[in-house]
Amino acid sequence: MPDGDQRWSAVDDYISDHLIGEDAIQQETLEANRKAGLPAIDVSAAQGKMLQLLAKGVGAKRILEIGTLGGYSTIWLARALPENGIVVTLELEESYAQIARTNISKTGLDDKVEIIVGEAIATLSALVHKGTDPFDFVFIDADKQNYAPYLEHAIRLSRPGATLIFDNVVREGEILNPESDDPKVPGTRALYEVLQNHPKVDATAVQTVGSKKWDGFLLAITR
Ligand code: SAH
Ligand code: DHB
Ligand code: MG
Repeated sequence: MPDGDQRWSAVDDYISDHLIGEDAIQQETLEANRKAGLPAIDVSAAQGKMLQLLAKGVGAKRILEIGTLGGYSTIWLARALPENGIVVTLELEESYAQIARTNISKTGLDDKVEIIVGEAIATLSALVHKGTDPFDFVFIDADKQNYAPYLEHAIRLSRPGATLIFDNVVREGEILNPESDDPKVPGTRALYEVLQNHPKVDATAVQTVGSKKWDGFLLAITR
């Protein structure tokens, strides 16, 4: 029996074998990302399917994602959508967006995904000004330094009762350390601080272990 992190990964494999099965499309996505040299910081299969089922469970028709990378989580989210549903996904790096476009085109989900390249804060402001239709579900997974501003934009762009999910809110427990060397930690702590008494959302977080080590998802529902 493997121990520590290896055991967490083995359990993720067990979960995938039983509840997800062979997913040739997403295997190909991960392989293309690896070949292109993208960092392997996509969600796990179990997490991706959880995002898909959460979005499907609330009947999401309009999904916003902040942080596309190679489109692995985007594909999980797009799979939750009904006919005419859309995922709008924001990515800073044009080269990553290009890889995501190629990956998504192989899934046949192209007409359900819009990738917008640029600094997400600027893109989100543009979406607000444009008066874009409200989103039902938002997955936030880009630069952790901007998690608190992303929360405010996500609230502004969502319908009342929308589901917001933030990735990487535990970081192997490092979020407890106000003096952390990891520059992503203060941004994540700022998110918890603004959520502590937030008038417009109710939130919780769950810690997770698995192939992505010890981390967590934060769930917030808008009022
Ligand atoms: N959601 C993806 C992983 C996203 S990784 C998945 O699970 O498959 C985080 C992504 O956020 C990276 O691709 C990074 O380039 C992007 N990012 C970082 N800073 C950003 C910013 N300011 N605006 C938009 N995207 C940003
Ligand atoms: C990092 C970012 C992520 O979104 C993730 O899931 C894991 C790691 C990072 O920037 O280190
Ligand atoms: Mg992440």
